[in-house]
Amino acid sequence: MELRLADRVVVVTGGASGIGAACAEAFRAEGARVAVLDRSASAPWPADVTDEAQVAAALDAIAGTHGGIDVLVCCAGISGPVGTHAADIAVRDWDSVMAVNARGAFLSAKHAVPHLRRAAAPSIVLLASDSSLVASEGMAPYCASKGAVLMLGKALATDLAPDGIRVNCVCPSIVDTPMSRADMGLAAGFDGVGYPVQSPDEVAALVLFLASPVSRPVNGAHLLSDFGMAAKSGFPMD
Ligand SMILES: NC(=O)c1ccc[n+]([C@@H]2O[C@H](COP(=O)([O-])OP(=O)(O)OC[C@H]3O[C@@H](n4cnc5c(N)ncnc54)[C@H](O)[C@@H]3O)[C@@H](O)[C@H]2O)c1
Repeated sequence: MELRLADRVVVVTGGASGIGAACAEAFRAEGARVAVLDRSASAPWPADVTDEAQVAAALDAIAGTHGGIDVLVCCAGISGPVGTHAADIAVRDWDSVMAVNARGAFLSAKHAVPHLRRAAAPSIVLLASDSSLVASEGMAPYCASKGAVLMLGKALATDLAPDGIRVNCVCPSIVDTPMSRADMGLAAGFDGVGYPVQSPDEVAALVLFLASPVSRPVNGAHLLSDFGMAAKSGFPMD
């Protein structure tokens, strides 16, 4: 399939690691011009997505350097506490997860919009999660934040449709990245774990499809990539 992404200017937040890094590489392979925005000091465009002034300045500078922005991919995220009962979550942990995952995606979209309005076939893709739809035990802030990202995507799609800016979400189950390895205590990786795990490259392929003009009629949607897990009823069958 010809994705028609050559020469497009693509901003990837959280592009220094994991899914974001795989997205950056996949866009580059299609001939896109990629700007990685990340809080990592080594990122080409260092910025903290929770900080409105930093996000606005970085996006304006990227647009100035590249002559605009065509696509925004929001991958910056944190998992927060894993394995902590909802009743034991500290408020600072709740706030920090919501700040990066929900406010960060909102601020990135807010300050990309003035540039995307001037682009042909502009698109925003948000990294939500299967946790936007089904809860994992002991991850209340993360699940709530990803539910917020899913609805942010629909709200943005609704508000930005008159500008021709499409907004869609990708909702993967567990992906083999530094984040998930740390969360699961599996520094060596997921070999032999007994449950399905997808690669960052597989997620990037879905992101590129939604970023590309080939998915023009798809807007306000979410693409659930979970090996069919959420399709299964809890109805007991022996
Ligand atoms: N790994 C999974 O199993 C999985 C599953 C579904 C969804 N996701 C989502 O995909 C996205 C990427 O996750 P990943 O697994 O690649 O994680 P990762 O930890 O490998 O990468 C996350 C990147 O985000 C950056 N980042 C974090 N906070 C930031 C901030 N405040 N400002 C700017 N950059 C910041 C980090 O520096 C890092 O480069 C996240 O939104 C995550 O919630 C991950």
